[in-house]
Amino acid sequence: MTSPINPQDIGKQKAGAAAAELIKEGMVIGLGTGSTAKRLIEALGERVKNGLHIVGAVPSSDETAAYAAQYNIPITNLDEHPELDIYIDGADEIDPQLRLIKGAGGALLREKIVATAAKRFVVIADPSKKVEQLGHKYPLPVEVVPLAVTPVKNRLARLGAQVAIRERNGQKFYTDSHNLVIDCTFPEGITDPTALDATIHSIPGVIETGLFINLAKQIIIGKPDGVEIYP
Ligand code: 5RP
Repeated sequence: MTSPINPQDIGKQKAGAAAAELIKEGMVIGLGTGSTAKRLIEALGERVKNGLHIVGAVPSSDETAAYAAQYNIPITNLDEHPELDIYIDGADEIDPQLRLIKGAGGALLREKIVATAAKRFVVIADPSKKVEQLGHKYPLPVEVVPLAVTPVKNRLARLGAQVAIRERNGQKFYTDSHNLVIDCTFPEGITDPTALDATIHSIPGVIETGLFINLAKQIIIGKPDGVEIYP
């Protein structure tokens, strides 16, 4: 792996390493997506190399599947293992009630499916991800069937969002499930995440939102001098 070069990267590494210790012999686990999840995979890979046996890991993205394979972590899926012992993933924003915005990496749909299949969802992050109110630092991603992207975008704009269809390298960004993502910025932040999530889900063509509510059980915040665990 690359060496951590700043306090944020060191924090991600500490959080990933602490979360890897939660994985026990014989577990079936879910692996998140993103730079913090990669630090988890590296730490877990080290444990697997030293003899830890896990039944399998369900990846939340193609990128994670490829990265985990590099560390000889056995890959499985939700058909083989519909119930997971633990799911560990990063987040873009975490509020005091452990509600999250996720999906800056575009893996929100699979992340939510894998998170809801797990008995326990643990979030790993550096301190910059903690916020008082969701929606001020990161846009809320909404995954949409391509056919519906323009009407959904217009409906989201009518809810007060500044909307942008996500692009990567100047091209429309497609998720692993071949959908598009609309990034929604709410200038006042998100005052009622539960109500907003329900409203967005009611729009035909919307597949999933990046609001993760009542899913995370625990947060591990990594800092250069150690980790803080909530609750
Ligand atoms: C990807 C995600 C990531 O978990 C989130 O973007 C955090 O990423 P990072 O650990 O790189 O900050 O939701 O869809």
